[in-house]
Amino acid sequence: MRKLLHVFKSTLIFLLFINEVISTPPEDPIKCLSKNTNCTITNANGIFPDRSTCKVGEVKYPTSEEELISVVASATKNKIKMKVATRFSHSIPKLVCPDGQKGLLISTNNLNKILKIDKEAKTMVVESGVTLREIISEAGKVGLALPYAPYWWGITIGGLMATGAHGSSLWGKGSAVHEYVVEIRIVSPSNPLDGYVKVRTLDEFDQDHLNAAKVSLGVLGVISQVTLKLESIFKRSITYLSKNDSDLGDELISFGRKHEFGDVTWYPSQRKAVYRIDDRVPINSNGDGLYDSIPFRPTLSAELAIVRTAEDIQEVKRDAKGKCDGAKLITSTLATFGYGLTNNGVFFGYPIVGFNNRMQSSGTCLDSLNDGLITACAWDSRIKGQFYHQTTFSIPLSVVKYFIEDVQKLVQLEPNSLCGLELNNGILMRYVTASSAYLGKTEDAVDFDITYYRSKDPLRPRLFEDILEEIEQIGLFKYKGLPHWGKNRNLGFVGVIKKYPNAEKFLKVKAEYDSVGLFSSEWTDQVLGLKEGVTILKDGCALEGLCICSQDSHCAPKYGYFCKPGRIFKDARVCAFHDVKKTEGQNVVKDEL
Ligand SMILES: Cc1cc2nc3c(=O)[nH]c(=O)nc-3n(C[C@H](O)[C@H](O)[C@H](O)COP(=O)(O)OP(=O)(O)OC[C@H]3O[C@@H](n4cnc5c(N)ncnc54)[C@H](O)[C@@H]3O)c2cc1C
Ligand SMILES: *[C@@H]1O[C@H](CO)[C@@H](O)[C@H](O)[C@H]1NC(C)=O
Ligand SMILES: *[C@@H]1O[C@H](CO)[C@@H](O)[C@H](O)[C@H]1NC(C)=O
Repeated sequence: MRKLLHVFKSTLIFLLFINEVISTPPEDPIKCLSKNTNCTITNANGIFPDRSTCKVGEVKYPTSEEELISVVASATKNKIKMKVATRFSHSIPKLVCPDGQKGLLISTNNLNKILKIDKEAKTMVVESGVTLREIISEAGKVGLALPYAPYWWGITIGGLMATGAHGSSLWGKGSAVHEYVVEIRIVSPSNPLDGYVKVRTLDEFDQDHLNAAKVSLGVLGVISQVTLKLESIFKRSITYLSKNDSDLGDELISFGRKHEFGDVTWYPSQRKAVYRIDDRVPINSNGDGLYDSIPFRPTLSAELAIVRTAEDIQEVKRDAKGKCDGAKLITSTLATFGYGLTNNGVFFGYPIVGFNNRMQSSGTCLDSLNDGLITACAWDSRIKGQFYHQTTFSIPLSVVKYFIEDVQKLVQLEPNSLCGLELNNGILMRYVTASSAYLGKTEDAVDFDITYYRSKDPLRPRLFEDILEEIEQIGLFKYKGLPHWGKNRNLGFVGVIKKYPNAEKFLKVKAEYDSVGLFSSEWTDQVLGLKEGVTILKDGCALEGLCICSQDSHCAPKYGYFCKPGRIFKDARVCAFHDVKKTEGQNVVKDEL
């Protein structure tokens, strides 16, 4: 094991010095048997939560709004189910699948133009397939800034709005990009009198429709254009500060109110929290900072394979301690290299000061110039890399302290249980604010991003399966957390629509825009509460988050995992190892490495 750690460490260090922008761009999520027909689509991970991919009859690539209108009209006339697809398809759940095998995908890949920038009014009009990266960079060129945005820039404005994507802030209108959208043009099905298609322009004078369309899950039609309200470019100053986590529950709210762009990364098994102190500073402050997040850089496939193999072995051997050692190494390496922050290309310590457009989002692993998969994004499914589940929910500020304390109690019971999360850069906690969007956040909240090992074998449980499942159920059900629409396993969406007081208003607009439901699918109907069946009951379903276990077969009796109540949340039902106290956390197999 020592040797493995050593190899791991040297590759980890090596990777930090690959500074050239070479990498293999991600695979096209759409694959067709013949040109644009008989296709399948998945997401950027190459697989949906239920391990399916989905079949579609045809893909169209409109290059203008006129073409888009004629595509929607003709599909509506022929009663064909439709969905919008994007270049990389970064959402995890099955939002992009039209029902049946003959559906139509409308890709926004060629709807990628910046249409207008008004420096005076500080607005920008873009087609919906434009990526976050282009928006930030084109705005920056004329001295404008999108203040808050997701940290990963490989997503499109249409896709990120549909799922309510956000960065981190409690200030102003908060961190969700849709809060900065002032006008939307949307193309929806209509009746024969309208020529089967209707184009609507929604602005502030039509709050009802705008609030529905800002976060739409893609079920209202195709967003063609978006107008964003920007502000003048400004500089930020970032300092990461590491503290023990004993007062995290108390600190979290005041920290968020104090620092405009702050976030916190939590390493619960290391009992540590890293605070990103991130504030606006005067534009003449010194510094040419850059944030090029290390996990989003091109990563050596060989290194990814080593890391994955190490975790596969740790899982099989139930080597929790090994995971904890690996986690400490990764955590300290990231800290040593400033998490990817540099000033004039180097990192010598904090603060790092720079322009907002260079500090907010990154994702250099997307850069093309195909190197034949020597390096790639860590989750690229063509290589042996990250394969994970992601549970992401937001918990209202009013109760977030109790959620933190519940997780801390679980760590007290099982100190090594959350090292697996730390291997995936810990729990990222970001601030989001209540929104007027009908499917936006209902209260000011902290969003938790929890990423953990997923076996290639769906029937294989993970280490501390029970603790991870209990945290998921505590967040979603005890504190009624709102799942991120673009992440999560199926169980994240159990009863979700009941958590939204404005759901009825959303459904009314949906009925008006697409009365037949051509843009709806089984999955979106289930999520929106129009159909039963978000969860799927079968052997091992709880391991994949397809169900909450109610009998042992939903877990993995073969590996000693049975359906039990939670340890501190008694209403939880989790897959627990039969003799947790005695064996978990120890090497039961002799270390042969
Ligand atoms: C590495 C990584 C990092 C991430 N980081 C963050 C983060 O920091 N913050 C955050 O909040 N989220 C984050 N996410 C999640 C991400 O923001 C969402 O999954 C987002 O929806 C992906 O956008 P996309 O362009 O890939 O859209 P897709 O996933 O392709 O589409 C999402 C939905 O939008 C619909 N849609 C797309 N375009 C249109 C359109 N023009 N009109 C109508 N409907 C449309 C699609 O049909 C689908 O239903 C991250 C995801 C990954 C993989
Ligand atoms: C595509 O699918 C149709 C049926 O849906 C089938 O008739 C046709 O042969 C398929 N084409 C190819 C190239 O597989
Ligand atoms: C955590 O840090 C605080 C000071 O910030 C200190 O008082 C406390 O004893 C520390 N707790 C642990 C467990 O180290």
